Amino acid sequence: MSKRTLVTSALPYANGPIHLGHLAGAYLPADLYVRYKRLRGEDIVHICGSDEHGVPITIAAEKEGVSPQDIVDKFHEQNKQIFDDFGIDFDYYGRTSSEVHHKTSQEFFTKLYEDGVFVQKTEEQLYDPKAQMFLPDRYVKGTCPNCGYEEAYGDQCESCGTSLSPTELKNPKSAITGDTPETKETTHWYLPLGDFQERLEKWLETRENWKPNVMGQVKSWLNDGLADRAVTRDLTWGVPVPLEDADGKVLYVWFDAPIGYISATKEWAAQQGEPEKWKTYWQDEETDLIHFIGKDNIVFHCIMFPATLMAHGDYVLPKNVPANEFLNLEGNKLSTSRGWAVWLDEYLEDFDADLMRYVLGTNLPETKDSDFSWEDFQNKVNSELADVLGNFIYRTTSFTENYFDGKVPELDNPTDKDLDTLKEITKQKEKISKAYENFKLREAITQTMNLARIGNKYFTEMEPWQTRKNDRTTCGNTLHVCLQITAALSVLFDPILPNKMAELRKELNIDDGSSWDAISDSILESNSSINKGAILFEKIEDEQIEEQLNKLKERAADNEDSAKENYEPLKENMEFEDFMKMDLRAGEIIAASAIEKADKLLKITVDLGFEERIIVSGIANDFDPDEIVGQKVSVVANLAPKKLMGVESNGMILMAEEEDGSLKFVDTDAKPGSVIK
Ligand code: MF3
Ligand code: ZN
Repeated sequence: MSKRTLVTSALPYANGPIHLGHLAGAYLPADLYVRYKRLRGEDIVHICGSDEHGVPITIAAEKEGVSPQDIVDKFHEQNKQIFDDFGIDFDYYGRTSSEVHHKTSQEFFTKLYEDGVFVQKTEEQLYDPKAQMFLPDRYVKGTCPNCGYEEAYGDQCESCGTSLSPTELKNPKSAITGDTPETKETTHWYLPLGDFQERLEKWLETRENWKPNVMGQVKSWLNDGLADRAVTRDLTWGVPVPLEDADGKVLYVWFDAPIGYISATKEWAAQQGEPEKWKTYWQDEETDLIHFIGKDNIVFHCIMFPATLMAHGDYVLPKNVPANEFLNLEGNKLSTSRGWAVWLDEYLEDFDADLMRYVLGTNLPETKDSDFSWEDFQNKVNSELADVLGNFIYRTTSFTENYFDGKVPELDNPTDKDLDTLKEITKQKEKISKAYENFKLREAITQTMNLARIGNKYFTEMEPWQTRKNDRTTCGNTLHVCLQITAALSVLFDPILPNKMAELRKELNIDDGSSWDAISDSILESNSSINKGAILFEKIEDEQIEEQLNKLKERAADNEDSAKENYEPLKENMEFEDFMKMDLRAGEIIAASAIEKADKLLKITVDLGFEERIIVSGIANDFDPDEIVGQKVSVVANLAPKKLMGVESNGMILMAEEEDGSLKFVDTDAKPGSVIK
C-alpha cells in the first residue's frame, strides 16, 4: 500500500451553479471515497476549487455587462458554500485566479519552455477587426467541417463531438459582433503530444484496475494519433504567458486548470503551517494520485495533463482516473440552458442533503449513463432509508430505552442465529471495503444497506416484543445483536449519510473518533447507556414529489417560450438564378452503414432513379443504419464530391433540424429521380 493519497475533483467552472449532474459525475463519488479512506485512518487529501478562466466565463461576463472577475467571485463563493452544505468535504477549495496559481502555472510553462518542450508556430488565425481581437475557442461559431452542423464552436462541434480549431470552421462568424472574421498572423506555443505518445502508452499499460469506459476512450485517442495542442491563446482573461513579446496572450485554460490542483495543494499546505508539505503529495512516488471527473474531461486528465507532468519530470502521474458517465434527468439529457436540471441550492430548500447523497449514490453513472427521477427518489427514501434503515434503528433504540432502561443488554448464552447475525457485521464490512477500494461506490452503498436489511429481518424474526414477556435472556440477546449492528451501521453509513450518522452516534454515545478498524460485533459495551433515537428519516409524500416535477416542467416550458423567440434568423435574400443552380431530387435510401471511427457519420446509398449514389451524412446520432433503409429523402444532387473520413460523398441529404437539435428527414412521396423545384 502506498503511503498517502491525493484525490482531486474536477475544478468546476465558476460561471454557473452546481447541479445534480456535477454531483453525480465527480464530487459525490470523490467524497464517498475520501470519507471512507479517512475512516480507515489513511493519509488522504481532497483538493478542488474553481476553474476561473476560459472563454465561456468572459462571454458570460460580456452578456451580463460585468467583469469576468465579478462572475467568478460570485460563483466561487456560491459553489464553495453549496459543496459545504452538501457535505462534500474538501480539504481545500482553491481558485485559479489566485496569485499562487498564476505563479505556479507560469513556472510550469517557463520550465517546459526552457526545456524546449514546446513547438512555436506562427499561423493565420481568425480575427475580428471591429472587436479588435482574435477569436479563439467559443468566440467563433460556424459550420462543422465534419458533420455540417451550423452552430459548431471554434473548439468543438457539439453535434458530432469532434474537437476543432477555429480556422477549420466553414462560414465562421464572430460571437461578439456576428461579423465574418478576417485572418491575421499570430504566434502560439504547442505541446507536441505526438512526442509523448509512446511514453503515454507505456505508462498506461502499467495502470491497474482502470474502468473500461475510461481506458476505452483513452485508447481510441491514442489510436487516432496525438496532434500538437496549443497551450496559449490570444485573450486578456487568464494567466498571462510569462514570456517577453507575449502581450495579450494567456495560457490555455486546459493548460492552467489542472495545474490548479497543484496550486490548491500548495495553498492547503501553507494553511497547515507546513508550506513544503505539498511536495510530498505531488512529488513523492509513494503518493497515489486519483482524479475524479466526468467523462467529458477524460482526454485532459489521461493524456494532456499526464503529458505535461511527464514533460516537467518532477511529478507523480495519476494512479487512477475513475471517470463517470453522465446523469440524465427524468429520462432526458440534463441541460442547464433549457432549464432541465436540479440545482443543489434549490434542492436544499426542500430536502436534506443526506437523502440525495444516498439516492444518487445508489444510482451513480459508474459504467453507463444513469437516470435520476423524483419518483425513484421518493421510493428509495421511503422504502430503503425510512422503512429499512430508519425503522431498524428506531425500533432497536426505542425498545432498548423502553424495556432495558436504555442500557445495552449483555450477551448471555447466545444461539447460533445470534452469533451468525453478529458475524454479518464483519462480513459486510469486508464486502463494503472491497467495493470502495475498487471505486465501486454503488456496490459499497448497496452492501451497506444490506446490513440494515439483515438487522431488520433478524429483529422481526426474533419477535422481541414477545420474548420480553416470557424470555428476558433471549430478548436481551436479540437487542444486544441489534444494537451492535446499529453501532456498526453508524460508522459504515458515515461516508454516505454523514449528518444523520453523526446524530446517531451521539445517541449511541460513541461520538468520539469513529474508525473503520473499530467496526466490529462489539462496538458497544454491555451495560453502556444509549438514548432513544429520533426518527431519522421522514417519508416523502406524493405532493412533495409532484411539486418537484412541476417545478422542473414549468421551468422547461418557460425556457421553451423564450426559445420560440429564438428561431434561427433568416439568411440574406438570394437571387432566383442562384437558387436555380441547385439540383434537388427525390430519392430513396437503399443501404446504410456506419463509418469506422466516425461516430456521427453514416455511409448511405441513395436510389436517384437514374443512378445510385453514395452520400455521407452526419446523422448517426439520430438514426441507426438499419432503420432508415426505405426512407424517402430529398437530395442536393449536384453538390461537388467531397471526401469525409475517407469516403467520397456525392451530394447531400436534406435534413430539418428541430429546436432541440434532433434531425428529421425531408421526405417526399415523389418517385426517385423526380426534380424538386
Ligand atoms: N472546468 C472543467 C469542467 O467543468 C474541469 C476542469 S478540471 C481541471 O469541465 F483539471 F482542469 F481542473
Ligand atoms: Zn460536427
